[in-house]
Amino acid sequence: MDCVRLGIVGIGGIGSAHFNCVGGGKISGMRLGAVCDIDPARLEYCKGVYPDVPRFSDLGDMIKSGLIDSVLISVPHRLHAQMAIEALEAGLNVLTEKPEDIRVSAAKRLNAAAERSGRVFGIMFNQRTSPIYRRAREIVKSGGLGELKRSVWIITNWYRTQHYYDSGDWRATWSGEGGGVLLNQAPHNLDIWQWICGMPEEVTAFCRAGQWHNIEVEDDATIYVKYPGGGSGVFITSTGDLPGTNRLEITGSLGSITVEQGKLIYKKLKTDERIIREAEKRPWFEPEFDVEIFETDDAGTAHTGILQNFANAILYGEELIAPGAEGINELTISNAAYLSEWTKRSVVLPMDDSEFDRLLSERQSDSAGKSGGMQQTHEGYSERWNVRF
Ligand SMILES: NC(=O)c1ccc[n+]([C@@H]2O[C@H](COP(=O)([O-])OP(=O)(O)OC[C@H]3O[C@@H](n4cnc5c(N)ncnc54)[C@H](O)[C@@H]3O)[C@@H](O)[C@H]2O)c1
Repeated sequence: MDCVRLGIVGIGGIGSAHFNCVGGGKISGMRLGAVCDIDPARLEYCKGVYPDVPRFSDLGDMIKSGLIDSVLISVPHRLHAQMAIEALEAGLNVLTEKPEDIRVSAAKRLNAAAERSGRVFGIMFNQRTSPIYRRAREIVKSGGLGELKRSVWIITNWYRTQHYYDSGDWRATWSGEGGGVLLNQAPHNLDIWQWICGMPEEVTAFCRAGQWHNIEVEDDATIYVKYPGGGSGVFITSTGDLPGTNRLEITGSLGSITVEQGKLIYKKLKTDERIIREAEKRPWFEPEFDVEIFETDDAGTAHTGILQNFANAILYGEELIAPGAEGINELTISNAAYLSEWTKRSVVLPMDDSEFDRLLSERQSDSAGKSGGMQQTHEGYSERWNVRF
């Protein structure tokens, strides 16, 4: 194969951006093979931009057409796993939008199908290309912070208006979307959080539904986690704060990292705190440390970078920046956060998927949903989907 023939399912807000990116020749070794959407207006849009690209209203038909060898899934979250499994079982490579699905149980089924298929399976965690988060990860993974003590991420610059929540009939309901800020905006940060700090072993959370908007799912959440080594973490997110904050701080026995305003400050102790704690004979200590500052306004190659990497993985076996199977990690944290809120208790991982599925299904059957015929708006690609400090 010398060129990946990509089919895109879901030509809405982000799907149109991918459609224009690949159709515009921005990904070497990849071209548009076909597109698919259930909304005729979206197919008309595609026809207007690239009239020669075949259009389908059903994913199965697009798969069977033989016009594509890979599919990019950019439909509402609850359809991700089922569509990805259908494509993988038909022998296609899959790149899915985040989150991997709305349920860990579905993500497990998808990961198993991907494993069986032997195909390339990636996920659109575009923030993994951010140089500043990559540097933070490098420091932590190379032991530069010693033993992890604490992580605190305040990520509240995902502001959304009521108009945004009213703009799509699948948004912000348990039945349509399956969750709120933790499932829509924060997956990027939850992924980076676990990518840098690792997975926690226990999750306790407060997820406040309709705190700032007229919606039935959460638009404000605080998660407290315990890590296996004894460290702890706090993750705060909201779509109600303006101007909002994006501040990540990680502390270990060898120092700390803060990331804010496009600046990473790494303070590295000359002596590990665990040694000082035992050896120092005074009750306090003025630490000596080196300071490294890494400052950039480069948000990384973002969506284009993940698409190019997906093409390179198929054509040349390049290692994926965001393997699809890793999508389950951040989803585990958000599912556990919901379960903690619903049951008012801490959730030890691995959690009981069946309890989560049952409680989500109850909410879905009680969900007010939204009336059909609501005006559906599709915003074009915007920088707000990249890292913003
Ligand atoms: N990586 C990112 O930065 C990023 C940014 C935005 C959205 N997303 C993700 O992309 C997904 C879509 O979000 P959006 O904002 O583009 O939504 P959207 O509502 O704008 O678009 C969804 C599209 O899917 C189509 N669709 C729905 N069901 C379908 C079906 N069964 N078959 C074919 N087409 C179908 C709809 O008609 C619509 O055109 C979500 O999962 C979201 O989390 C990711």
